[in-house]
Amino acid sequence: MSASVDALFEPFRLGSLNLSSRVVMAPMTRSFSPGGVPGDQVVEYYRRRAAAGVGLIVTEGTTVNHAAANGYPHVPRFYGEDALAGWKRVVDAVHGEGGKIVPQLWHVGNVRRLGTEPDASVPGYGPMEKLKDGQEVVHGMTEQDIAEVIAAFAQAARDAQAIGMDGVEIHGAHGYLIDQFFWEGSNQRSDAYGGDLAGRSRFAVELVQAVRAAVGPDYPIIFRFSQWKQQDYSARLVQTPEALGEFLAPLAAAGVDIFHCSTRRFWEPEFEGSALNLAGWTRKLTGKPTITVGSVGLDDEFLAFMVKTDKVAQPAGIEGLLERLNRDEFDLVAVGRALLVDPDWAVKVRDGRQGDILPFSREALTQLV
Ligand SMILES: Cc1cc2nc3c(=O)[nH]c(=O)nc-3n(C[C@H](O)[C@H](O)[C@H](O)COP(=O)(O)O)c2cc1C
Repeated sequence: MSASVDALFEPFRLGSLNLSSRVVMAPMTRSFSPGGVPGDQVVEYYRRRAAAGVGLIVTEGTTVNHAAANGYPHVPRFYGEDALAGWKRVVDAVHGEGGKIVPQLWHVGNVRRLGTEPDASVPGYGPMEKLKDGQEVVHGMTEQDIAEVIAAFAQAARDAQAIGMDGVEIHGAHGYLIDQFFWEGSNQRSDAYGGDLAGRSRFAVELVQAVRAAVGPDYPIIFRFSQWKQQDYSARLVQTPEALGEFLAPLAAAGVDIFHCSTRRFWEPEFEGSALNLAGWTRKLTGKPTITVGSVGLDDEFLAFMVKTDKVAQPAGIEGLLERLNRDEFDLVAVGRALLVDPDWAVKVRDGRQGDILPFSREALTQLV
């Protein structure tokens, strides 16, 4: 093992959270939980990664107990005895391998379409109402709806703690409900949950406060956010470091322990004039530990294709990642697609077996192994 790779396999400690490595499995929706219940295959899928050098698993998005939380088929629920019993089996399997795991708590908001499970008649819920041909396709959330969704997140966090999860991640990224409140384009409310970015963040801040109150002072809360959203990769929520600081401070004060800064390429500077990426800036501005993510471990051929099609900056590779980690730009490194294709990605990197790493393939996205 080279000295620099060591940094990725140093333990990390934050309060009660003890991780054996800096490698985090990024949350990835798999749609392999019929009826919303994670079964044997899902247990084995996470166990394998925990057994192979991943310090912390963030599960695929799993829905809170609200009628409009889900947007896709076969997404696991994080409520109901059957689903929670399934998750408990996942937790036990991951702990059996010495790993740690947190659920990613999810509400898709206005992305939900009529006809989606569990109740096909329930429309999307979002900051603003949307009508199509006179029919309500997105229900504009009232203050009562907001209170109910916040309570659902708090209950999910309580349940996570009860079944032995090592913390929770709140999905505040990628154009789903919490993120829909952040953006001016999707939130033109005239009440206390709209207005400037501070007003548009109020929903998230109250939600984090409620989760914190539900789990007590020592239970890790991770908050995932992004500058981009699924509907627009080039969108940016804030344009300057100052604005980023102002956006994050109330979330940190509300009880976030770790920020998970979702970017598509970890090597891209977030703002002009500095090489720091989003996780680097977030750590610097909040003083909180951060998780970076974005194209870690993807093979050169795949990235070369992206460079050609997306006109992105030349990839930095694993060496570039390690340099940043060694400089303490961020604390943890989330890996998505590379770990999806190769469950042993982390141990292969650790043991200098890069040549054995399975290359990224689109077929892997359709399988659960
Ligand atoms: C199949 C797939 C499903 C994903 N599902 C989620 C999700 O449920 N929640 C989330 O926050 N991000 C999700 N993402 C984004 C990943 O967590 C990650 O940020 C992204 O893939 C970039 O990391 P990578 O380049 O290492 O794959 C998903 C990505 C993929 C490829």
